[in-house]
Amino acid sequence: MASYVDPRLRGPVVELGPGTGPVTDALLRQGIEQERLVLVEYSPEFCQLLKRRFPRATIVQGDAYEAGEVLADVVKEPCAGVLSSLPLLNKPVEQRLALLAAAHAMLHPFAPFVQFTYGVKPPIPARSTSYTASASERIWLNFPPARVWVYRRG
Ligand SMILES: C[S@@+](CC[C@H](N)C(=O)[O-])C[C@H]1O[C@@H](n2cnc3c(N)ncnc32)[C@H](O)[C@@H]1O
Repeated sequence: MASYVDPRLRGPVVELGPGTGPVTDALLRQGIEQERLVLVEYSPEFCQLLKRRFPRATIVQGDAYEAGEVLADVVKEPCAGVLSSLPLLNKPVEQRLALLAAAHAMLHPFAPFVQFTYGVKPPIPARSTSYTASASERIWLNFPPARVWVYRRG
C-alpha cells in the first residue's frame, strides 16, 4: 500500500484505520517523514498506541467516514496519498463512494486513494466517469490473501 505513495510529492499523507501501525511503518520506510503523516483511527486505545509509536505524526481520533469534517482543520494542503485499511465492505456503496469523493477532494490531482481488500470484487466500483481504478495482483502470501485497489481522479 505504501509503495503507491510518491515521497517526492509534497503534502500530508493520510491513513484511515491505521490500527497498530503496520502500514504507517511501511510509509516511513517508503521515505515519508513522520511529520507528514495524519492518522485517523476510531479506537482510542489504538490512538494511544500510535502516539507512542509515532510521536511526531498527527493522530486524529474519529470516524474516517467523516473525513471531510474530521480533517478540515488538520489537512490544509493537497495530500500526496490517502491510504485506507477500513473494512469498507461493511458499508453501503453510497458511503464508500462518498468516502472516495472526500479523499479525492483532499488529494493532489494524480495522487492515489489506496484501499486493500480480501474480497474478489473491487471494494469501490471500478467503473466511473469521475475516477480511474486499478488493482494489484492478489497477494497470496498475505493471510487471508488480499489485493490493493488504487483510485485516482480521472
Ligand atoms: C482491518 S484493521 C487494519 C489495521 C492496520 N491498518 C493493519 O493493516 O493491520 C481496520 C482498522 O480501522 C479502524 N476503523 C474501523 N472503522 C473506522 C472508522 N470508521 N474510522 C476510523 N477508523 C476505523 C479499526 O479500529 C482498525 O484499527
